[in-house]
Amino acid sequence: MSPRKILVTSALPYANGPIHLGHLVEYIQTDIWARFQRMVGNTCYYVCADDAHGTPIMLKAEAEGITPLQLLAQVGKQHRRDFNNFLVAFDNYHSTHSPENRRFSELIYARLKQGGHIVRRTISQFFDPQKQMFLPDRFIRGTCPVCQAADQYGDNCEVCGGTYSPTDLIDPVSVVSGAKPQQRESEQLFFKLGNFRDFLAAWLEQNHTQKEIANKQKELFAEPLLEWDISRNSPYWGFEIPDEPGKFFYVWMDAPIGYLASFQNLCAREGLDFDEFFKPDSRCELYHFIGKDIARFHTLFWPAQLHGGGFRTPSAVWCHGFLTVNGKKMSKRHGTFITADTYFRHLAPEYLRYYFAAKLDDGIDDLDLNLDDFKARVNSDLVGKLVNIASRCAGFISKQFGGRLSDALPDLPMYREFVAAGDTIAAAYEQRQYNQAMRRIMALADRANQYVDAAKPWVLVKQPENLATVQSICTQGLNLFRILIIFLKPVLPATAEQVEKFLNLPPQSWRDAKHPLLACQIERYHPLLTRIEQCSIEAMVEHSKTTAATATTATATAAETSPRAADAESPVAGQISGEQFARVDLRIAKIVAAEYVEGADKLVRLRLDIGGQQRTVLAGIKTAYSPEELNGRLVVMVANLAPRKMKFGVSEGMLLAAGPGGKDIFLLSPDQGAVPGMRVK
Ligand code: MSP
Ligand code: ZN
Repeated sequence: MSPRKILVTSALPYANGPIHLGHLVEYIQTDIWARFQRMVGNTCYYVCADDAHGTPIMLKAEAEGITPLQLLAQVGKQHRRDFNNFLVAFDNYHSTHSPENRRFSELIYARLKQGGHIVRRTISQFFDPQKQMFLPDRFIRGTCPVCQAADQYGDNCEVCGGTYSPTDLIDPVSVVSGAKPQQRESEQLFFKLGNFRDFLAAWLEQNHTQKEIANKQKELFAEPLLEWDISRNSPYWGFEIPDEPGKFFYVWMDAPIGYLASFQNLCAREGLDFDEFFKPDSRCELYHFIGKDIARFHTLFWPAQLHGGGFRTPSAVWCHGFLTVNGKKMSKRHGTFITADTYFRHLAPEYLRYYFAAKLDDGIDDLDLNLDDFKARVNSDLVGKLVNIASRCAGFISKQFGGRLSDALPDLPMYREFVAAGDTIAAAYEQRQYNQAMRRIMALADRANQYVDAAKPWVLVKQPENLATVQSICTQGLNLFRILIIFLKPVLPATAEQVEKFLNLPPQSWRDAKHPLLACQIERYHPLLTRIEQCSIEAMVEHSKTTAATATTATATAAETSPRAADAESPVAGQISGEQFARVDLRIAKIVAAEYVEGADKLVRLRLDIGGQQRTVLAGIKTAYSPEELNGRLVVMVANLAPRKMKFGVSEGMLLAAGPGGKDIFLLSPDQGAVPGMRVK
């Protein structure tokens, strides 16, 4: 079979709030799939972008006293950092506020207009007389016309669940200014979805999305399909519509076009053929991963926009469910509105990638991050089962055999059985049934551990005549471990890379599992993943309660203000409260690299490993220590200090030391039993 050519996307996150763990379900789900495709030899591009337009972004920038462009720059940087931290490897991350997107939006609009799919209608909408702007439904609140509950959104009631038009609200007020909105008429542009009725009905029949999602959309076909309002009046933050002064494309009109724009931007940079992917009869595959809340935009409007605009339609739109934390909607008050950044400061990203993989399938059910289960599962599967295989075998190979693996496997049939399981596991990845893939892999990990248990190399090693057997048992164990790491590489790319270094291997692809690793030299083993400590989870939850993280939408932010626990205590000047101290995250760190900083009198640059995460710290200890003395040493560090830009670079933490300075600086050195990442209390 010749390799497939695939383009995948995740939904474009709004550029007015931080990435949180709910978002990450989707980006991790997509990233695993893309990495898997590349590992089996397919060409797979993964593109995304910030969704940069719309009223909430305009108002958020205004509230912060900056321009929308400044907001986009700030948030874009944070989003990229978060994705990078969570090993979400886009081939391109762009913005919908880009020249490419303007061009494609205008092109698709022109073609729709030319095809007779755009019509003008005069509608009545709420207008804020104070702000002099038309108000989106979400920016109007009032009394529910159904159940009379006060302070409800403009389009639906959270008390009785009723849906209505904002003009039915009793005593409406503008969320933006508090003014009483007026009804005003204006002319808007509508996309005639009804013109695509037959096309869409057929498309929904062809398994381009999950059955439940398709059925939900098909319900709409009982009546004439609605016309979709694609324009907004000024002031609006977006692209002005050609020949329609004062009118802008509605954010949802140009947002999905951002997929094309981001890919076009990649094509220009890397010399790829955009048309090969997007011409109507393209043989390349196109998949959109999205949350079920935005299915209608992607399974009705979007295929119609593409089709009417002269482009190919998606091979599939794959929806996932929503993330809850401890069984409930994420909440700031309970510390379960956890941003990507807060998580990253306390726990290793690969734990979350694994946990999501262990829970995700191809369906649209919600998934729960139960923090106790998370800890138990990661500790048992990744540390107790997976890493355990390597740590039990590697020591003997380095100590007894100078790092050399034996020439043959003692149990080749077992090795072959592991390799053969790869087909089922690959099929599960392909079908997005990651939970089944993880289950299979962990069952193999159990078998590998049973093998080592039964062979007992630690007993055999005591008799010199058994040494060759010990070497081959451990070679077998490490070979099984290597296969499992290859199977897990889409989920745990950083760990896989560390293992490749440990085993002296080039980047492994799926096929490489077939050939055992024999008669070669491996490196010394360093612990790969360490246990999740309860205190790390507690610190993350506490941190989430106190971060000033803003929710994804302006309205959510208003609804989510919570009293801060710290306000209860008022420490005397010069003191800090117990709660403030609890927020200092002290960790055991291992210095894995140390070097002088050119031009600095006191600084050394250190690379610190805190169990799965690494930090660069510039420490003022050069007068007392040389880099050689520091390398390999355990120290205590403040792990949640905000990164600080110094003259010689960014420092991501601080070491704890005592003493007057000069030659007398005493690093706090933990006992032998300490492990990088362990929390210091
Ligand atoms: N900007 C739109 C998407 C435009 S795509 C052309 C948007 N942005 S979003 O930031 O609100 O959400 C981005 C993605 O994250 C969506 O697919 C959404 O479903 C998903 N999630 C947001 N919160 C989520 C959870 N709590 N759980 C799982 N997915 C979640 O929608
Ligand atoms: Zn109601």
